[in-house]
Amino acid sequence: MSCQSPIVVALDYPTMAQSIEMAKRLDPNQCRVKVGKELYTTAGPAILDSLHALGFEVFLDLKFHDIPNTVANAVSVAAKAGVWMVNVHASGGRRMMEASANALQQLPNNNTLLIAVTVLTSMDQSDLVEVGIDATPEQHVKRLAALAKSSGMDGVVCSAQESKMLSTELGKDFVLVTPGIRPTGSDQGDQKRIMTPTDAMAAGSHYLVMGRPITQAADPIAVLTQANADLGILI
Ligand code: C5P
Repeated sequence: MSCQSPIVVALDYPTMAQSIEMAKRLDPNQCRVKVGKELYTTAGPAILDSLHALGFEVFLDLKFHDIPNTVANAVSVAAKAGVWMVNVHASGGRRMMEASANALQQLPNNNTLLIAVTVLTSMDQSDLVEVGIDATPEQHVKRLAALAKSSGMDGVVCSAQESKMLSTELGKDFVLVTPGIRPTGSDQGDQKRIMTPTDAMAAGSHYLVMGRPITQAADPIAVLTQANADLGILI
């Protein structure tokens, strides 16, 4: 059965050994895991097999952005590898996203979620201006999220601060995946716009990406269990 918790633990490690060591301290009934560019570049597809063998559902966070054919083929390979969620950049445009959604539809029994990144939270207004976008980050997020939905994406990655607005604009079924989550009392780290798990879920988020508050805790499973309990999820 699928994991009941909305928490996705970011396994941001430079080696396969470190990520597997952390995964073994976690529990696939209490969270999913996220594999990003650093880990995937060092470990390759073997990391997916290892995490699947431990019972985890995996979000492959490679944020594909290329010509439609290339991205469609890449998401298709990810889905065939059995990942639970994969993502692309919404700024790759409608044809890129539609080609990706079509590629997944052609797979028998596909249930991999296809998600788009809107505006990277590291980008502010001046960064957008420099790449030729004459809109506020919020306006651009809204525009890209609407484009992602109409291009067949299952949802978007966004800041939890944007969840309420996107959930109202695009409907409650459009999946919102939000990083920058910090349980009450934990270290903010370099994240600027943070929210607690409870507040993020109340704002309309579906999945909560949490890295360091769990992976750098003395007792990661205790932090995870507490975060789930705060959300009313008793596993
Ligand atoms: O350690 P922390 O909880 O800040 O980790 C958050 C994870 O979410 C990292 O893997 C980071 O790359 C990712 N992320 C983010 N902000 C975004 C998109 C992804 O922090 N806008």
